[in-house]
Amino acid sequence: MGRRFGGTALGVALALTFAPSAAWAEDYEPIDCSEVKCVALTFDDGPGRYTKRYLKILRRHDAVATFFVIGSQVSGHKSLVKKMAAEGHEIASHTWNHPALTSLSGAQIDKQLERTARRIEKVTGVRPALVRPPYGSMNGRVLKAIGRSGASAILWDVDTRDWEHRSASRVFNHVKRDTRRGSIILMHDLHRASADALDRIITHLERRGFTLVTVSDILGGQPKDGKAYHSGLR
Ligand code: NI
Repeated sequence: MGRRFGGTALGVALALTFAPSAAWAEDYEPIDCSEVKCVALTFDDGPGRYTKRYLKILRRHDAVATFFVIGSQVSGHKSLVKKMAAEGHEIASHTWNHPALTSLSGAQIDKQLERTARRIEKVTGVRPALVRPPYGSMNGRVLKAIGRSGASAILWDVDTRDWEHRSASRVFNHVKRDTRRGSIILMHDLHRASADALDRIITHLERRGFTLVTVSDILGGQPKDGKAYHSGLR
């Protein structure tokens, strides 16, 4: 459960003839998270060493996630990022090189966001609609700049703290304890511990009746520009 596309054949066809907007709009089946028990897995700071492994695990479960990528790392992983998009994952912005945006001027923030949005659009054909500010560091100036770039700010309500303890069982326990309907779960696809925990996490969430969706889906398909979200609970 949880894929946007009905059949494998369609998914394969889409991956082969990847023509973003038109094909996307026609075949897109939004998931109604007021009917379905939704949860969104999110991965920050990639693409990197373990991203391929994450994609493989997600594919095995027929599940989708949202990748908040660092703009400057996209060109070095073009085929991987294209694959992410083709497999139904949402690709979103985690800025160009991960500064605390609150320490920058409005113009510098604009540059961080615009460079990243253009690079993602160049590779996937789709401009990202979501930004996750590094360290969750945000103020009014940051939020306005995100709004100007045509995106919304995405935080989280479940923090696995994987970067801190680097332990697969602790990553799993955070998710098990804290996840509710509408949760946005924060992980990082550059840690092995999270990759080791991912299969167990997805199996657990599926057993509890959750459907894994993208962040845009959990926000009802139309997150508002310049608004900050911690979860899909409304
Ligand atoms: Ni980060």
